[in-house]
Amino acid sequence: MKIGFVGAGRVGKSLAFLFKRAKHEVIGVYSRTQNSCNEFTKFVGNGKTFENLKELAKECEVVFITTNDDSIQQVCEGLSPYLSSEQFVFHCSGLLTTQALTSAKAKGCEVGAMHPIQSIPNPHYGIMNLPHSYFDIQCSPGAELVAERLVKDLKCTPIKILPEEKVYNHLASCMVSNYQVSLFDAALKLYENTSISKDLASQMLSHLSKQTVINLENLGPLRALTGPIMRGDVGTVKKHLKSIKDDNVMILYQKVGLILLKLAEQRGRIKKKQAEQIKNLLENTDKHG
Ligand SMILES: NC(=O)c1ccc[n+]([C@@H]2O[C@H](COP(=O)([O-])OP(=O)(O)OC[C@H]3O[C@@H](n4cnc5c(N)ncnc54)[C@H](OP(=O)(O)O)[C@@H]3O)[C@@H](O)[C@H]2O)c1
Repeated sequence: MKIGFVGAGRVGKSLAFLFKRAKHEVIGVYSRTQNSCNEFTKFVGNGKTFENLKELAKECEVVFITTNDDSIQQVCEGLSPYLSSEQFVFHCSGLLTTQALTSAKAKGCEVGAMHPIQSIPNPHYGIMNLPHSYFDIQCSPGAELVAERLVKDLKCTPIKILPEEKVYNHLASCMVSNYQVSLFDAALKLYENTSISKDLASQMLSHLSKQTVINLENLGPLRALTGPIMRGDVGTVKKHLKSIKDDNVMILYQKVGLILLKLAEQRGRIKKKQAEQIKNLLENTDKHG
């Protein structure tokens, strides 16, 4: 298909590269800045830079709006006057639905939200990580088959989702991915108090983190849970709390610890008395030092 992009960012570049590899024709890109357009065409290896939405709309069967979420509706409204009913318009937001593409729908286009459930920190990682990922898709009826085909061409799996379900899927994805990044960062900073280098600490924690994900995938959260809270080691939790100097890390340890405690109780390994003691420690917002 003849595919054009509005928004020459991480997702736009990654998808364009992969669609080209899947033998689609990447027509080109329109973006806010010329510099991003140049980077896009260089990265993808073909396609041209459009100076306006009108010219881009003329040449494409499919337009992907890969701007930031807050710009999608407005970009679609700018694009819609130049669209006709044979064209398809997609965006990649995890949260927004086809509602953001109402103006294109009003022109008779078929529209869809095609959201990669993947973290794309830059286009190089995008083209490496996207194949074999999942995409949730929420489309107008006439766009479903095209969306599924495009997702499969990326060697990914399409999952149909209802508009009202998107927020939960997006929330879950953000917690598992973005929150993991902040958890990792907070953990890494604890090594500033040690003789272990940041690089070595990062390697050790990455290794642990990968294995934890494998355990989770194979065993589920309840059986994958290990650690002092699961065992009911009150003394260890006390020492942890005494060693935390950063207020945010303290909040994190305590709040997430309470969720861990519930899992531990469900798992049934922790004794009632120890669970109560740990709960008291985690609920006590005073300094533990
Ligand atoms: N990155 C991820 O991990 C990820 C994962 C899943 C879904 N998504 C979704 O994918 C979409 C794109 O995200 P991204 O991470 O690729 O964002 P990004 O790297 O920040 O790129 C957004 C691009 O949109 C362009 N842009 C912004 N406003 C514009 C406008 N009014 N007209 C034309 N171009 C405009 C920017 O242009 P300039 O560079 O020219 O200023 C920028 O290149 C979002 O809907 C996001 O929710 C992202």
